[in-house]
Amino acid sequence: MCNLVILIAAIAFSNPQQTHGAAYAVSAGQPAKTWTIGMSQCNRGEPWRVQMDADIKTAAAKHPELKVLFKDAQNDSLKQRAHVEEFVAQKVDVLIISPKEAVPLTDPVARAYDAGIPVIVLDRAVIGDKFTCFIGADNRKIGKAAGEWIVKALGGKGRVVELKGLMTSVPGQDRSAGFREGIKGSQIEIIFEADMKWLEPDARKEMESALSRFDRIDLVYAHNDPGAHGAYLAARAAGREKEIRFVGIDALPHEGVQYVREGILAATFQYPTGGAEAIDMALRILKNEEVPKHVTLGSRLFTKENADKGGEPID
Ligand code: FRU
Repeated sequence: MCNLVILIAAIAFSNPQQTHGAAYAVSAGQPAKTWTIGMSQCNRGEPWRVQMDADIKTAAAKHPELKVLFKDAQNDSLKQRAHVEEFVAQKVDVLIISPKEAVPLTDPVARAYDAGIPVIVLDRAVIGDKFTCFIGADNRKIGKAAGEWIVKALGGKGRVVELKGLMTSVPGQDRSAGFREGIKGSQIEIIFEADMKWLEPDARKEMESALSRFDRIDLVYAHNDPGAHGAYLAARAAGREKEIRFVGIDALPHEGVQYVREGILAATFQYPTGGAEAIDMALRILKNEEVPKHVTLGSRLFTKENADKGGEPID
């Protein structure tokens, strides 16, 4: 009997899993609760995503009770799906996911949510509403602001190349739709459009095709800064970079904003990573607080004129 009691006690202390998979860290004789957050990143090949992971890490480091496990799906939706399933099997306390594409990741996210794991979807949306909270800037609004800025910059008229982000991801779709709305009623003509999948080398290749087909291109609107930079490199190789303006999205200080300062890009629109906000929201969820279903982050426009002042908000 006595042995049984000891055995039960031993199991209780050696198996720290509680209802939500919370583990207990014992420090100075006082048990303090720790939580595990699984972070599924669609790829770490782009500077913006490296920054998102860094923002999450920095924000989480301020809370010793949080432990974040990072997985990098290397731009492979199937791999990312497996990562989500692994986090569910592991019973993480919160799942954060920045999905590569909407359709293939919708089901795994819904299954995690149905399994009772709070899910924060970051930056690229999934379909439906089977998640706890979505955090991201309004890509439609950013696209529209870019369109309106371009109309002004070109005096209402011009020949534009649109290099799109992955069109199976919602930001790509929204940045395109918003842009079209922004240039509506002007004499801006989209003479060439291509899906460069958010990737600089693809953007460069697509721009080479555009340059070979069109003698006059006034401006390139790329859905992200790596895309705009790839297009610039293609134009420079063709000796045409001075006759074309380049506009991008992201505005990382050491990437897009730096390109603006150097005169490579005419403008870039900030797309915040939302990493710090995701940790904020995770903490609120773990404290059983209500969280909004959608958190919409702001954006700022950066040009050579306003870069030193930290850009200006888009309304
Ligand atoms: C990085 C990235 C960013 C872009 C975001 C959209 O993978 O392509 O450049 O703003 O994803 O989801």
